[in-house]
Amino acid sequence: MITISGIPEMKSLANEARSQNLAIGFVPTMGYLHDGHMSLVQRARSENDVVVASIFVNPTQFGPNEDLELYPRDMEGDRHKLQTAGVDALFLPESGQLYGPGYQTYVIVETVSLPLCGSSRPGHFKGVATVVLKLFNIVRPTRAYFGQKDFQQLQVIRRMVSDLNVDVSVIGCPTVREADGLAMSSRNSYLDVSERKQAVALNQSLLFAKTMFHSGETSSRIILDAVVDRISREPDARIDYARIVDSHTLSDVDQSDSASLVALAVRIGKTRLIDNMILG
Ligand code: PAJ
Repeated sequence: MITISGIPEMKSLANEARSQNLAIGFVPTMGYLHDGHMSLVQRARSENDVVVASIFVNPTQFGPNEDLELYPRDMEGDRHKLQTAGVDALFLPESGQLYGPGYQTYVIVETVSLPLCGSSRPGHFKGVATVVLKLFNIVRPTRAYFGQKDFQQLQVIRRMVSDLNVDVSVIGCPTVREADGLAMSSRNSYLDVSERKQAVALNQSLLFAKTMFHSGETSSRIILDAVVDRISREPDARIDYARIVDSHTLSDVDQSDSASLVALAVRIGKTRLIDNMILG
């Protein structure tokens, strides 16, 4: 695996691969890699000739009071995992290179960025869409891999790619979970032992919602009441949002159907966790 930090070097590797008609699979990340990230890498490895992973903790997607400075990092561990998984190139751009002096251009995906995390984290998806488009322009992937754990992010990127005619296939990959059901996340490392136990409430409440739906309940209100009830049993849990939305538009639905998505953001102590599940 080669490590590339310069944008011109990354572009020339991508151009070289494209000129040889090689398919480039790309997995953008912010590092501190876990098996969720690695599932995307494995899928990219199995479907492409060249696999590029990037690690970049993107400042423009963090709000002023968020965890940019504290975001966990483990470059040596990450490098080892990517190398073992057969990644060809690790792209490690520097912030000053991606956002140089005078930087002023951003991508705003309008409607689908507004609800859920978009309303709790204003500007977050503007930062995500901007950095992902920049990375696409540098890495020139044939296919790019994103997790359904960040369901809204996946929809924002799909919309951007479609609206801006970007020549890449966006592949959504299933959420990888710990043995007790907690969705893997770099931020799980912030949880202490008690919080870690309480965090399982997110997945359990989603499974509860799914069971209710499969037993014939379609009222979103009634399902959400049960979800809120389950999470509220944890002493350190504070719900940021719990919604049932259409999985394409992300707007609220009163009557759930098999394409409805239950989407959660919950603070356990100081750590904000998200999770989601399609009811059908
Ligand atoms: P990061 O949180 O590092 O996640 C990188 C990719 O891994 C995303 O596509 C995310 O959805 C996926 N992922 C995270 N946890 C997962 C899990 N448990 N199962 C499956 N996939 C999982 O998301 C970002 O970084 C950034 O916003 C980024 C897209 C890199 C732009 O800065």
